[in-house]
Amino acid sequence: GRVILSGIQPTGIPHLGNYLGALSNWVKLQKSAEPEDKLLFSIVGWHALTLPQDPASLLTARNDMLAVLLAIGIDPNRSILFHQDHNPHHTELSWILSCIAPMGKLRRMTTWKSRLATARNSSSEDEVDESMLNAGLFMYPVLQAADVLVYKATHVPVGDDQQQHIELTRDLADIFNRTFKGTSPLFPLPTYVNTPSKRILSLKDPTSKMSKSSPDVQSRILLTDNASQIQSKIRAAVTDSIRALLTILKVARVAKAYESQGHGTLKRDVAEAVEEFLKGPRAQFNRIRHETTYLEEVARRGAIRAIEHSEVTMMEVKTRLGLASAV
Ligand code: TYM
Repeated sequence: GRVILSGIQPTGIPHLGNYLGALSNWVKLQKSAEPEDKLLFSIVGWHALTLPQDPASLLTARNDMLAVLLAIGIDPNRSILFHQDHNPHHTELSWILSCIAPMGKLRRMTTWKSRLATARNSSSEDEVDESMLNAGLFMYPVLQAADVLVYKATHVPVGDDQQQHIELTRDLADIFNRTFKGTSPLFPLPTYVNTPSKRILSLKDPTSKMSKSSPDVQSRILLTDNASQIQSKIRAAVTDSIRALLTILKVARVAKAYESQGHGTLKRDVAEAVEEFLKGPRAQFNRIRHETTYLEEVARRGAIRAIEHSEVTMMEVKTRLGLASAV
C-alpha cells in the first residue's frame, strides 16, 4: 500500500492557494485511497517557529488549523490527523538526518535563498546577511524530510513551492540508505504529488504566488472569507491577474471563454464560484472550531496513532546507526 503524508504550517487560516494547491488533494486522495493505503496529515507547529510567533496566536492557529482540516473533509477515522509537535520522533530523526545532510544542498534551497535575499535587501552592510537569520530557517527542509521519512511515506501531496523540499527528502533518504545499508534500503524514495492548480497566484501581484506572509491581505482569499469579502477582493484584483482568476475558476467551476467577455463578468463569476466552493467548509469550520473537547480528542488520538507508526521506523533507524541496545 501507499503511505500518503503531508503537512501545513499553523500560521493562520489557509488561503485559496493552500486549498486548491494542496488541501483539496488531501481530501481527494483520502476518498480514492485503497483500504491498505495509509494517510497521515500533520499540522507542523515546529516549522512555524522558524518565524517569530506570538504564543497565544500560535495556540489559536494550531487549534483553528485542526478545525479547518476537519471542516474540509479530512476524516480522523480514516486518516491520521495530528500535530507534528506531539510526536518527538520528528525532531529525533531530523537531528540524525542533519548529520548526513550536505550544507551545500541546504544552501541551494530556494526558500533559504529568498530569505537571504530579503535579509540582504533590508541592510546596507554586506556582512549581516546570514547572521540575521536563525539556524532553524536553514534546517527547515531537513525537519520536513524527517516528517516524511519517519513514516516511510511514499507519496507527498503539496503545491509547487514545496517540490524542491521533496527532492531533498529523496536525496537524504538515498544518502541514508547507501550509508547505512542493511539487508534492504530502509527508506522508500517519496514521490511529489501535485494538483492541476499547483501554483495559485496573488491577486495583487501575479508574478508571485498567493501567500500567507504577504503584508497585503487583499492579495489572498481565506477559506473563511464571507461572500462580500470574496467579492471585494476579487473586484480589487489587479487586471493582469486574469490568469490567476482563470486558474481559480477552472477549479471552482469549468472555465468558459471569458477572454472575450471583459473583466467585469469574469470577476463576478469567479466571486460567485469561489463563494459556492467555500461556503460549505466555512460553515463547518465555524461549527467545529469551538468544539474544544472534540478537537482535543482528535489531536490526542492522532498523536497516539502517529507515534505507533514512527516508533517502528525509529527502532530500525537506531539499529542501523548503532544507537539501539542489543537487548
Ligand atoms: P505551507 O504551510 O506553506 O503550505 C501548505 C500547502 O499549501 C501549498 N501552497 C500553495 N499551493 C498552490 N498555490 C499557492 N499559492 C500555494 N501556497 C501554498 C504548499 O505547497 C503546501 O503544500 N513546508 C510546508 C509544510 C510541511 C510539509 C511537511 C509538507 C512541513 N512538513 C511534510 C509536506 C510534507 C509548508 O510550509 O507548507
